[in-house]
Amino acid sequence: MPVVRGKNIEVLFSASAIARRNLELAKEIASRDFHDLLVISILKGSFIFAADLIRALHDTGLAPEVEFTLISSYGAGTTSGEVKILRDIDASVEGRDVLLIDDILESGKTLKFARDLMVSRGAKTVAIAVLLDKHARRQTDVEADFVGFDCPDHFVVGYGTDVAHAFRELPFVGVIQE
Ligand code: IMP
Ligand code: MG
Repeated sequence: MPVVRGKNIEVLFSASAIARRNLELAKEIASRDFHDLLVISILKGSFIFAADLIRALHDTGLAPEVEFTLISSYGAGTTSGEVKILRDIDASVEGRDVLLIDDILESGKTLKFARDLMVSRGAKTVAIAVLLDKHARRQTDVEADFVGFDCPDHFVVGYGTDVAHAFRELPFVGVIQE
């Protein structure tokens, strides 16, 4: 078991499993009839997933535009609270096919906020890709169009996801053993 910061981390999704799944997701995305796709990476948690997924999209022949928005959904703890936009995208989404990328779909508050915002700004379509779906925690009607893995109801870290900004660098997704 990997040890990081003195903690044992149980690997849930290995780096190689994630890499394989990203290629499959990219093919699923490429098989859709998206036109002039605008990909929006929701920071901070999605930065590694988005970086890998957009390169996998390139391998399928897609050439998306890529944007970033910083949305905070957590307060100090690990339960989903108020959703705030801390840094907006620069591009116009009007009439565009938009693909939102996030690390984890949990309550759905973050992605509902982001999806509704893009719809209100006139996006033609808004699709959602997430690495992990924690379905047991859903509090909204939001579903992702593209899901890497169904995730058990544990607090996970790695591959961009964090606890207090730590563990993002792990190349895998894991659970800290207390
Ligand atoms: P939601 O708004 O409840 O769907 O929460 C989604 C956001 O919460 C994700 O973008 C993550 O950044 C964060 N999050 C949810 N679950 C976890 C977790 O297990 N570890 C780290 N971050 C998480
Ligand atoms: Mg997040």
